[in-house]
Amino acid sequence: MDSVKQQIETLREALNRHNYNYYVLNQPEISDKEFDMLLKELEKLERDHPEFDDPLSPTHRVGSDLTKGFVQVLHERPMLSLGNTYSVEEVDEFVDRARGGLDGEKVQIVGELKFDGTSISLLYEDGRLVQAVTRGDGVRGDVVTANVLTIRSIPTQLIGEGWPRRFEIRGEIVMPWKEFERLNDERKRAGEPLFANPRNAASGTLKMQNPAEVARRGLDAYLYYLLGDELPFDNHYDNMQAARSWGFKVPEAMRVMDTIEEVDAFIQRWDVERRELPVAIDGLVFKVNSLRQQLNLGYTAKSPRWAIAYKFQAERALTPLRFVSFEVGRTGVITPVANLEPVLLSGTIVKRASLHNDDIIRSLDIHEGDHLYVEKGGEIIPKITGVDLGARQPDSRPVEFIKVCPACGSELVRVPGEAAIVCPNTYGCPPQIIGRIEHYVGRRMMDIDGIGDETAAMLYERGLVKTPADLYRLRVEDLMHLEGLGQKSAERIIAGVEASKRAPLERVIFALSIPYVGETVAKRLAKSCRSIPALMSMDAEALTAIDDIGPRIAASIIDFFGVESNREIVAQLADAGVTMELEESASGLPESNALEGKTIVISGTFLHHSRDEYKEMIELNGGKNAGSISKKTSFVLAGDNMGPAKLEKAQKLGVAIVTEDEFLAMLPQV
Ligand code: IVH
Repeated sequence: MDSVKQQIETLREALNRHNYNYYVLNQPEISDKEFDMLLKELEKLERDHPEFDDPLSPTHRVGSDLTKGFVQVLHERPMLSLGNTYSVEEVDEFVDRARGGLDGEKVQIVGELKFDGTSISLLYEDGRLVQAVTRGDGVRGDVVTANVLTIRSIPTQLIGEGWPRRFEIRGEIVMPWKEFERLNDERKRAGEPLFANPRNAASGTLKMQNPAEVARRGLDAYLYYLLGDELPFDNHYDNMQAARSWGFKVPEAMRVMDTIEEVDAFIQRWDVERRELPVAIDGLVFKVNSLRQQLNLGYTAKSPRWAIAYKFQAERALTPLRFVSFEVGRTGVITPVANLEPVLLSGTIVKRASLHNDDIIRSLDIHEGDHLYVEKGGEIIPKITGVDLGARQPDSRPVEFIKVCPACGSELVRVPGEAAIVCPNTYGCPPQIIGRIEHYVGRRMMDIDGIGDETAAMLYERGLVKTPADLYRLRVEDLMHLEGLGQKSAERIIAGVEASKRAPLERVIFALSIPYVGETVAKRLAKSCRSIPALMSMDAEALTAIDDIGPRIAASIIDFFGVESNREIVAQLADAGVTMELEESASGLPESNALEGKTIVISGTFLHHSRDEYKEMIELNGGKNAGSISKKTSFVLAGDNMGPAKLEKAQKLGVAIVTEDEFLAMLPQV
């Protein structure tokens, strides 16, 4: 008996960890299918052994994506998930079961695409979007209205006629493949971690604190569920067609079906045609069409009995492991990489796949010469998901993580409390040095054109550039005879180096490669410290007093500037004429087109800026300032003591109220 309890606990622990990796970190370590398998295993054990039930078990929740920094609200109707299956037979059984549960009545089934993004609930009153909320833990979600307003396919004002005065519509926010690839290209060039798939990219983007950046990322939304007390039709399909006529993006793929044969044909068709869609789908959803029948079938604790998700198998291949190589990154982290016998997977040849870290090698228990399963679902990046134990040679040894750095021979160390193993030779290990040069010239840092990975390595190997400061001593003559470069590209590099001297302070701070100082932290530091000399002189107390800067970042900054050679680099950059201080734009206020098309009413008193400054900001960012609230008002920027008459009018017309902080977050950060 004890061992069953043990088994249940182990499964709960594993599922909790995977939930966290998936929903909080956006970095799943196992496939959805593996997750579902574990969950099903736990569900079965708990069913057979109710004495071990726990209200906090992962089987009792739908997974949480709640993020601090957003206001949370209760869903009027909980956002449940769907029961799912990978087998066509189980879909057929679902249809049979629905008929059985309805005394053999005629049952129509609606087939839909299952979009692989992040779910959203939109509330409309009097034809206007008033609130957008994420699923969260299913019961309460994050209010992300400002971000959702940037998604052009979501109507803020409905068109047509017949919409209920108040209703909710749910759907999926997705990042189209094209945008996903563009974003990852950009991140690769900037030396930032890539998103594993469009789903993570969409949910990560929706949770950003800066709506202007969200707007840039090309999110899209498909709607698939209408809820409310006064819906126009008594069936799901007709309601969704009505929603399309009100301006919503309702997928054209939706079909009403009368027979199991039609359902099976729908599956066959989309298993192939999904490859041609502009967005990722991870399966299909089948719903009972009649709302009355839906009501009769009801719900289990977690999902409706009137719907089921059919999930596509992720594409998977089995291929022998040739060897594991170990790569040293800019920050010294060693990444193990599986080098595989090339294999064809979803249309591309896969030769290598990251194994991430030692813990993952151990949990997969990879041995030398093993045959490995490689998967590529909605994912661009191939992933090792398991080992074919049947093909293992009896005398094969487990893959061992290396003990010394493959590049410089230093003894490796494990970062306490983390999975990372690093080379501590920060300033003498060539790939780390080259990595920092590559980072410095990257697009989101100093944006120096013409120096890619190979050029950076060559400049280092030729002894031309060992630190970012060396870039400013380069001359066209030094470069034009190097392999792959000519007069033209040499001139382009030198011009880029020259132009980089004017990069704003936040980029210079980001470009320095201070551990844990990413783009956002660099912006914060630039804004608060206003110069690099000031930053260098700050102690832990002063640093942690800045918003978003915790003790770990503070310690890292202090360590960094405690190193003589780093101070020397900064001094040389300053001599070369690189920006060391915050430059104010002409008005000192940010400019963009973040508020284009928006009519905004200002009301109340404010903390951070004067009313006149807010007026100016609205105009500098493409918006229009209006004096009184009307149907045309996009939102009210409300400070303290907003007049009661205005408040009432805003509420009556369903105009959103935006606080000072929310408003500032919509603008590009200076
Ligand atoms: S219906 C109560 N329809 O899949 C039923 N969901 O695993 C509500 N999803 O949380 C969901 N495409 O995020 C429905 N056509 C579709 C869908 C869909 C994607 C997502 C949704 C949901 C999850 C369930």
